[in-house]
Amino acid sequence: MFNEIDIDSIDLSLPAPEEEPNRQYYYMKLLKKLVKEKYYDKGKTPLVYNLVVGCQMNAKDSEKILGILLQCGFVETDAEDGADLVVYNTCTIRENANLKVYGRLGYLNSLKRVNPDMLIAMAGCMMQEKHVVDTIKKKYRFVDVVFGTHNIYKVAELLCERLTTGNMVIDILEDTKQIVENLPAQLKFPFKCGVNIMYGCNNFCTFCIVPYVRGREKSRNVDDIIKEIEMHVADGVVEVMLLGQNVNSYGNDLKENHISFADLIRRVNEIEGLKRIRFMTSHPKDLSDDLIQAMKECDKVCKYLHLPLQSGSSAMLKRMNRHYTKEQYLTLVDKLRAAMPDITLSTDIIVGFPGETEEDFLETMDVVEKVRYDSAFTFIYSKRTGTPAASFEDQVPMRIVKDRFDRLLNRIQTIAAEKTGVLVGRCEEVLVEELNDHIDGYVTGRLDNNTLVHFPGTADLIGKIVNVKLNEAKGFYYLGECVK
Ligand code: 5AD
Ligand code: SF4
Repeated sequence: MFNEIDIDSIDLSLPAPEEEPNRQYYYMKLLKKLVKEKYYDKGKTPLVYNLVVGCQMNAKDSEKILGILLQCGFVETDAEDGADLVVYNTCTIRENANLKVYGRLGYLNSLKRVNPDMLIAMAGCMMQEKHVVDTIKKKYRFVDVVFGTHNIYKVAELLCERLTTGNMVIDILEDTKQIVENLPAQLKFPFKCGVNIMYGCNNFCTFCIVPYVRGREKSRNVDDIIKEIEMHVADGVVEVMLLGQNVNSYGNDLKENHISFADLIRRVNEIEGLKRIRFMTSHPKDLSDDLIQAMKECDKVCKYLHLPLQSGSSAMLKRMNRHYTKEQYLTLVDKLRAAMPDITLSTDIIVGFPGETEEDFLETMDVVEKVRYDSAFTFIYSKRTGTPAASFEDQVPMRIVKDRFDRLLNRIQTIAAEKTGVLVGRCEEVLVEELNDHIDGYVTGRLDNNTLVHFPGTADLIGKIVNVKLNEAKGFYYLGECVK
């Protein structure tokens, strides 16, 4: 584990090792030296602003980037203005995430005019797109370092190169088979964290850019995953979220020590001191009966499942390359509810996929009525360059899409409000996460089923699991009171 490594004992007079992670330990020591000379020796503290957008995977990647930078002497700041290094971890799942980046770059340029020494590093999914890197090279020459999703572990090495050569450094790998273990991570919350169990995706849903920017599936070894979770638990983590684009295919690519995802959660469930296990994301086509059984029998596994539907129309699902029909999806939901009657379900739905007719949309509405999701993320279809659906000819006019989107959202919100109402009056366990930023004297936490609860409390409760009486349901959240 990284906490057993002594970076300071590395001899910089020797050449950098070739093998990982030793190579990165070497560059962390070198960057630490460069940072000392550039900042600390001149009486300055180097500040890093770590900006991340997008999914849990990106959030985890940013924790790793920050973990390395803190080891090298940087100190985190929550103000972009005044930062010596800005690392911007980007998302490209939908176009609006993507468009914001260029606006933000313009702003960073204005900061850099005031402080020409400021370093800007661009990372993440959007950097895996060739046209984006070409644009940065042409129009945003003030960017210092560009790297993608496959080499975040190299952030110290790339910054060393930038500082020693003075050139813009661009390092993008198309894909990799390599997983580099034993590097540091700075957790956002000391009591809960994501843990990657696999990287990449093999599914190629026709709307989705993820397989192009995150590469093919690569599973981590069971022992590495367990060791990492045990280390976090020893440091105070009580809740883990096992992360993968499709956790249900965990292990399929492993030659040795192959275990299924169901068996992985059984192993994680045995970790002493851990209180809650979540996972994300489950593809319905790969959700096995054994996983349902494992969820049911493992006491630490939250009885909550995010099960992306995308569309309720079997014809659309086929065009989306999802490999299940409406009926198969509904059967799966029945099986889950038969095994765990109280299970909370959430989903992702795309409206306006090319070729979607009113009838197709009504099939989606029908699934929403039948499943009665506790919550749902709804998206307007966004055309992503390079995906098969981008060249489908029958794109749906925005006016129609917006109308469908509003109707869907309306039903989802009404059903979710009805469903949260059911728990009112009950006493439930809440993991307290933070001080409430709207109501003074309140804290915010989550139920096992992921729903937010706000209740009067103080900072000392953060990270603890407490009993809360749910007094009032407010759509997607509860107001409650702590009961001792
Ligand atoms: N347009 C709209 N939504 C998309 N998603 C993925 N790609 C697109 C796209 N091109 C949604 C899916 C996925 C979630 C993470 O983002 O619903 O499950
Ligand atoms: Fe994208 Fe489909 Fe892979 Fe999910 S399973 S990341 S939607 S391609």
